[in-house]
Amino acid sequence: MRQVRLIYYSRATRDMSLADLKSILDVARDNNSGLGICGMLCYENRYFLQALEGEREAVNELYLDIIDDPRHDEAVILSYDEIDTPIFRDWTMGYAAGSAHFSAMLNELKQAELEPDKLSQAQALSFLKSMAKHQTQV
Ligand SMILES: Cc1cc2nc3c(=O)[nH]c(=O)nc-3n(C[C@H](O)[C@H](O)[C@H](O)COP(=O)(O)O)c2cc1C
Repeated sequence: MRQVRLIYYSRATRDMSLADLKSILDVARDNNSGLGICGMLCYENRYFLQALEGEREAVNELYLDIIDDPRHDEAVILSYDEIDTPIFRDWTMGYAAGSAHFSAMLNELKQAELEPDKLSQAQALSFLKSMAKHQTQV
């Protein structure tokens, strides 16, 4: 079975409270474990940045479901690659937002707040990887 990693960003249609984010993550973690999907989600400045990894068909189907979700719009795919081993395999959906480490990583990318539309594919992936090691509990 071919495995892929899809990375996209999108805009929240309104400010997300902690409860909003928790409800997204609770459902995502529940569903993803059944789908064999793992990944990482970042949220700041009304932007979502998310990596989805897993079997090709499952990732494609889930992505189409996710972008239909009215809590966000203006989704843009940053990258779509075949992978041998998922980087985010330890997390059904990891999460990071607004921590000191988050700001420090953004600083390295010369961003004061998250602006994924200005990141290259490589920058987005390395940001997600780094944030996976410094997650935010919700
Ligand atoms: C930014 C964002 C990321 C999401 N990520 C996932 C995810 O990784 N997995 C998932 O199952 N649902 C995710 N969702 C929720 C889905 O859009 C959808 O609500 C969920 O799959 C339940 O769909 P259902 O009501 O058709 O069962 C996400 C939603 C948003 C707004």
